[in-house]
Amino acid sequence: MNNTGNVHAGILGTGHSYPEGILTNADLEKMVETSDDWITTRTGIKQRRKAAPGEYTSLFAVRAARQAIERARIDPLEIDLVLCATVTPDQILPSTACIIQAELGANKAAAMDIVAACSGFLYGLTLADSMIRTGQSRYVLVIGAEILTQYVDYTDRGTCVLFGDGAGAAVLGPVEGNQGILAARIRSDGRYLEQLYSPGGGTRKPPSAETLAAGEHFFKMKGNELFKVAVRSMSEISNEVLDDAGLRAEDVKLFIPHQANQRITDAVASKLNVEQERVYSNISMHGNTSSASIPIALDECVESGKIAKGDLLLMASFGGGVTWGGVLVRW
Ligand SMILES: CC(C)(COP(=O)(O)OP(=O)(O)OC[C@H]1O[C@@H](n2cnc3c(N)ncnc32)[C@H](O)[C@@H]1OP(=O)(O)O)[C@@H](O)C(=O)NCCC(=O)NCCS
Repeated sequence: MNNTGNVHAGILGTGHSYPEGILTNADLEKMVETSDDWITTRTGIKQRRKAAPGEYTSLFAVRAARQAIERARIDPLEIDLVLCATVTPDQILPSTACIIQAELGANKAAAMDIVAACSGFLYGLTLADSMIRTGQSRYVLVIGAEILTQYVDYTDRGTCVLFGDGAGAAVLGPVEGNQGILAARIRSDGRYLEQLYSPGGGTRKPPSAETLAAGEHFFKMKGNELFKVAVRSMSEISNEVLDDAGLRAEDVKLFIPHQANQRITDAVASKLNVEQERVYSNISMHGNTSSASIPIALDECVESGKIAKGDLLLMASFGGGVTWGGVLVRW
């Protein structure tokens, strides 16, 4: 939707955190029939972070959030809403967002999780944008946090090489003038649900010794089909948000796509005519961290000075559901 009002939602502070443990391609070569060469050429991934036993999603979410809050120079008590995008919650009840809210002492905030897989962070930014522009909330904390390695089947070479763990966060608040989120769109198409899903562990197939033994809690993926949906959906939604804001791809200073596969990133960038120098990629270091991928990348760009005030930033994502989204921000 085009943002026409005077108040925009700006990103006031960002943060990220991930486990110390590293799983390299060489480690995976010892676990499944694969090779560093295959993984590197087909995905661009060299390593991913892996949580140790006892490390859980909110641990990294809280660390990322604290950094974002500090950089936004606000007090946790000023936060009106905590949104945590995750498909790997600490537990089913309560939401991971409530656990984070308590840990941060954000005692005046509402809190809820967003289950939109890899698009979760952009879903969160889109909701935060609406809440802030309508005056429902002043400060909104949006987090993407995942421990995906607990849901990866390390006997399935088609998925286990892709995923990693981590968390990223952003504090949003009202900004004046032509700054902040200029356009945001989110979409879904549940007809493609079997492209990436875990069949067991919910009410349809409650967790049991049988579902565990059959590995039904693990992610199943049709990588090849998802690849095409990813390229199409991310390039289309990018063009839509640019159109909404009356801008063009050549105006974009930095493009941060969901980090799923370097070949997907390259294909989307080429469709948009955005050359490599304007595209951020950290896939070699992190693999695919689902909802955490864009906020981790965003904070890395902020920390390394890749984004300056006034720059136009385009973010696009796709993920299981399938879901996709695009957000355009004037920094
Ligand atoms: C998963 C993905 C890397 C596979 O790459 P691909 O080029 O499509 O490869 P294919 O699935 O066509 O498989 C080609 C061959 O490589 C094999 N292969 C798959 N994974 C392998 C691995 N880790 N190591 C070695 N060989 C592998 C396949 O078994 C297949 O062998 P075959 O030709 O003998 O049948 C790619 O499809 C992809 O990234 N898709 C998007 C997935 C995604 O982003 N998911 C997250 C959504 S947010």
